[in-house]
This record gives sequence, C-alpha cells and structure tokens, in this order.
Amino acid sequence: MSNVVVVGTQWGDEGKGKITDFLAQRADVIVRYQGGNNAGHTIVFNGKKFALHLLPSGVLSKDKINIMANGMVIDPRALIEEIIGLKNQGITDFNLKISNRAHIVLPYHKALDTAFETGDDRIGTTKRGIGPTYTDKAFRSGIRMGDLLDEEYLEKRLKSALETKNNVLKMMNLPMYNFKDMYLELLNYAKVLKEYITDTSALLNEFLERDKKVLFEGAQGVMLCIDHGTYPYVTSSSPTAASIPLYTGIAPKYINNVLGITKAYTTRVGEGAFPTEFDDEISNSIREVGNEYGTSTGRPRRIGWLDAVILRHTRRISGITGLSVMLLDVLSGIDTLKICVGYEFRGKRIDLIPPIADHLAECKPVYIEMPGWEEDITGVRKFEDLPVNAQIYLRKISELTGISVKMFSVGPDRLQTIEMEEIL
Ligand code: IMP
Repeated sequence: MSNVVVVGTQWGDEGKGKITDFLAQRADVIVRYQGGNNAGHTIVFNGKKFALHLLPSGVLSKDKINIMANGMVIDPRALIEEIIGLKNQGITDFNLKISNRAHIVLPYHKALDTAFETGDDRIGTTKRGIGPTYTDKAFRSGIRMGDLLDEEYLEKRLKSALETKNNVLKMMNLPMYNFKDMYLELLNYAKVLKEYITDTSALLNEFLERDKKVLFEGAQGVMLCIDHGTYPYVTSSSPTAASIPLYTGIAPKYINNVLGITKAYTTRVGEGAFPTEFDDEISNSIREVGNEYGTSTGRPRRIGWLDAVILRHTRRISGITGLSVMLLDVLSGIDTLKICVGYEFRGKRIDLIPPIADHLAECKPVYIEMPGWEEDITGVRKFEDLPVNAQIYLRKISELTGISVKMFSVGPDRLQTIEMEEIL
C-alpha cells in the first residue's frame, strides 16, 4: 500500500496522533486535510512529549514533507507559536508546505465563536474560531493563505470582510476591529509564513504520480463530521476519508487504504448525545488512567463503553479497511466490559444512528458483556501475549464491526504500538 488515511472513528481524541507518528516513519509525505487548532495530538517519543495542534505529525522527522492542505483553517498566530515551540524543543529542521487555498482564522472568528457559545444552544466548541472561519469560507468572505502573498489583494479582501464583520460585532455589542492593526499583523505573519505557502494540490499530485508514500492525517472523528456526524453537535468540516480528494485537490482513486482509529472505549468532549456514556467509579478510573482531558482545551472528557453502532456507521461513511484499537491497557482491572451492539429507541431495536440529535439522546444502548482482565498489559508487544480475555475483546470488535483489527496500543510510547498486519 503506498497511501494510507488515518481517520478517527468516534468523536475525536482516539489517538490518531500516535498512529500517524508511528506510520509517518514509513511515509514520505504527511498531509493534514481539515480542521485547525481545535485538534490536539500528543506524541511521546524518547520520554519527550510533543503537543501538535496544527502541524502535521511528520514534523518530528526531518526527512518528511508535511502538507497543510486547502481544507484546513489555520490560525497564523497559533501556527507560528507552534513552530517556535518545536524549535525550542530542538526540532528545528522540518519541511512544511501550506496550501495557498487554506483559510485563515482571524481574531474576529475567535470572538464570534466564543460569543455564540454562551446560550443554551451551545455546541461546546473549542472556541478556536473554527466554525466562523468555515462559515466565511462558504459565505465567500474568507481570507486565504495565498492572499498573504499579495499585499494589495489582501488589503482589498480584508477591508471588505472587516466592514461586514464589524457591523455584525456592533450588533452583538462586541468590540470591533481596526483595519490597519489587523492588516499590519497579517503582513507580519506573512513574513514568517511565506516560505511555506504554495499550491499543495499540484505538489501532492506530483508526489502521488511518483509513487511517494503519502499519509493523510485526519483530525477529530467521523461522528463530528458536518454531514455524517451528530449534527448540530459537530465540527464544521468533514473528518472522513471521503473528504480528502476535495480538501487536498487529488483524485478519489488514491483513497483506498483507510485505518480507523478507535479507543477500546469511547470518549466525547463538548455537548451532544452520547448513548454509551456512564458516570461512576469505573468511568472516573478510565478518565484518570487514560488521562482523558482535552489536549487543546484541558476539558475532562465524557466516558462511555465501546459502541459498535458508531463503528459500523463510521465504516460505511469512511470506507474503513482496518482498525487500530487504542488505550487497551486502560481497561485492565475492570471485571466486566460492555460493548454496545444496538440501540433501543421508543421501544424498538435500531441499528442505525438517528439523524435527529434529540432522538439519539433518547436511545438506550443494548449491551453485550464480556469478562475483563486483571493484568497490566503495558509491556505486551505481540497479540499472542495479551491475556486471553483481551484477545477475545479485540476479536469481538472485529466481529461486531466487520473490520479487522490491524493494530492495537497499550501505552503512550511508539514502542507500545503493536502492528498485526503491515499498514503502509
Ligand atoms: P469546534 O471544532 O471547535 O467548532 O467544536 C465543535 C465540536 O467538535 C465540539 O463538540 C468540540 O468539542 C469537538 N471537537 C473539535 N475538535 C476536536 C478534537 O480534536 N477532539 C475532540 N473533539 C473535538
């Protein structure tokens, strides 16, 4: 396989960063294709922790090409801070390409995201300005990375966008922004970022035609997809593998090897229905052992049992060809494990996710129960060395989802990632 997609099968935070980093060793090119710094990937290597929000995971290896594609929304200030942060940790030498068509997150996007998050209708966003930036993209008033390279064009676009935006801010009793300050700030960012900005679609196609190994790194998870997720409690882009051709400017024929990342249980941050959520001593212990706190916002994550209805939905939407089961070690010591195999909705058994958020909130999970295992498995390096009940648990996931488990993970280090079948 010369290309692979790493996609989240739940509500994000499945451990995609770790698998991306693992597979990045074998890839020539690593591509982030959607979202922005609402994402957070923690990578541990040689005892050092790296938190990446915008940069593709390949930046830790100097010989990789890292692409931030047109489907992303990029906060230039956050990006520059991340680049400086890496340099301070000794990562100075990386090859980065930013799409000239990627949209820029501006201060007013963040202000609006925060302002919209106050009422009862809040989504529980990361307040990073992601939704308002994608809104402006669709509204055709966005500013793009390539605009930074043409001062006159940038001036024209920003003036027009800011005029409309200031009217909106005024109506909402929010502080307005001064054109000159913002324009000068953007020109300063341009000085730092211009060396990276290019036509990444042309570049990527060239790499694919030359049979370079490409890894597509999804952010968030399919359940947060604007089209196929738990709308309206979703993000504003599509984290599915299906969105890659559009979000990167390549042909669909290149997307045929899709690794779905799932936790051995489920988590969610922000608002929205979560059928298998539970709150007791076991969920608290999972939260602490699994360090289930947001990488970007520090919010405690909601905890639930594994949900096969969701994984089947994700498989269908995103064409998943293999699974990587993460954080299996966190389940050690739990007597009885549960997996949701269907829902009960208004007295009927259903196997599909209802499209209406309030209906999903009414769904009661139908569980199967499985015996857990006592042993600490963080030192396991082969499937055969797992306790028998852990092996049965993984096999059950394959059986219930129709997707073979190709990898699993028993701890945060690269060495604790076990590949049962070659992925890339
Ligand atoms: P937004 O992407 O900041 O607009 O947030 C929309 C929803 O997606 C909220 O429920 C967020 O908590 C969730 N979300 C966004 N990014 C991530 C992520 O990287 N991991 C988990 N949840 C996320």
